[in-house]
Amino acid sequence: MLALTLLAGLVGSSLASPFFSPWNSEELFKRAADISSGCSSTGTASCTNTTAVSNQCCFQAPGGQLLQTQFWDTSPTTGPSNSWTIHGLWPDHCDGTFDSTCDPSRAYTDLGGLLTAQGSSDTLDFMNTYWKDIDGSDESFWEHEWSKHGTCMSTLDVKCLPSGSAKGAEAVIFFNTVVRLFKTLPTYEWLADAGITPSSSTTHTLASLTAALKKGYGFTPALDCTSGAVNQISYYYHLKGSVIDGTFVPIDAPIAGSCPSTGIKYLTKTGSPVTTTGTSTKTTTTKTTTTKTTTGTKTSTTTSAPTGIPTKATIHAMQDGAQVGGLLSLGTWSTQTLASYTLTGTAKSFTLTTSKGSCGVSSGVFACGSGVTSTKFSAVTSGNLILLASDGETNFSSDDVPSGSTAYSVNTGGDDSEVYTLSIVSA
Ligand SMILES: *[C@@H]1O[C@H](CO)[C@@H](O)[C@H](O)[C@H]1NC(C)=O
Ligand SMILES: *[C@@H]1O[C@H](CO)[C@@H](O)[C@H](O)[C@H]1NC(C)=O
Repeated sequence: MLALTLLAGLVGSSLASPFFSPWNSEELFKRAADISSGCSSTGTASCTNTTAVSNQCCFQAPGGQLLQTQFWDTSPTTGPSNSWTIHGLWPDHCDGTFDSTCDPSRAYTDLGGLLTAQGSSDTLDFMNTYWKDIDGSDESFWEHEWSKHGTCMSTLDVKCLPSGSAKGAEAVIFFNTVVRLFKTLPTYEWLADAGITPSSSTTHTLASLTAALKKGYGFTPALDCTSGAVNQISYYYHLKGSVIDGTFVPIDAPIAGSCPSTGIKYLTKTGSPVTTTGTSTKTTTTKTTTTKTTTGTKTSTTTSAPTGIPTKATIHAMQDGAQVGGLLSLGTWSTQTLASYTLTGTAKSFTLTTSKGSCGVSSGVFACGSGVTSTKFSAVTSGNLILLASDGETNFSSDDVPSGSTAYSVNTGGDDSEVYTLSIVSA
């Protein structure tokens, strides 16, 4: 009775607030982050049982084949240029068929508010960068993924949660779990570790992509293509225990994706921001930090130093918001395959080197090579880009726009006929 009165009081005061969120009154209840399933996470994995398992709160069924799906969106781009983004976590049946929208009564809205109210704003922050809708409606996309797929997870049924769990806690758990899983699946880095980085022209075989990913994941994921370019990946799992806190057991994809066996493009996300965290699982002794990137559409106004720069990058030339080639290893502008640049230092002051040697500016000309005296550069954010600056100047220019095998020397400032900026893109 007391609890009810308190709740009524809280709801009343929340309603009076202009910032009313339907989730504000949940703090009397157990929040998602404090919930454990009480299930074993070491028993029989889903889809591997030989007799019926009755407790489907601790055994994911019938959707026991779980797919963590990721996008590589390039047209339009979504998310950071050096990370794939989350599509979802889908509970397929063991034979690959699936249910959808299993409980419309739990098609929650204001998931951002729900995550915040239940102590999962870290998850929300991550989703804001890595769980992107192609049309910019992230919240609607999250609602769709939850209601279509999340409500079909037997282990997230409301009756499986401890009594006193807050309303919507199982949805918060769903998002926490998806983010946790996604962070262990750094597709971009696994490909990059095998020398496979985005490009507008290079093509790959399915076998080479799959081999690189299998090296990272241990099993074979499925790759989907659109118009011959890879744009989605599915990592398959069985689950021991509950989606809340069970063990995801990786498995080979039971069916191949839609990519052809040869001629696959892995296109560049031109114009996307670079982040320094990505989904790295590399062991490192220093704490990783997220580079906050501004998401405005302005590209001509330089604002501030980014909080981080990549250590390996390609440098893209940007004219009127579009990429036109970039820098080769001697520091010239071309549309040929771009060189890898090594950045050493901080965003405010760093040096650049390539396979040819140090880079520097002398008499207004940028160059790299064994005889070049190294000079310091800085980075500034401009819209979604991290731009190279020499003496604070982000404009560079050349006599003409390169094409084919031509390369032009890069001058600092905008005095030559073709003016452009140089965008640092993590490689
Ligand atoms: C595994 O357990 C599920 C859930 O009880 C059941 O539907 C399925 O038939 C079982 N599989 C086998 C091979 O018995
Ligand atoms: C850089 O170039 C652009 C386009 O030519 C020009 O509008 C802008 O004023 C230049 N900025 C500086 C600082 O010279």
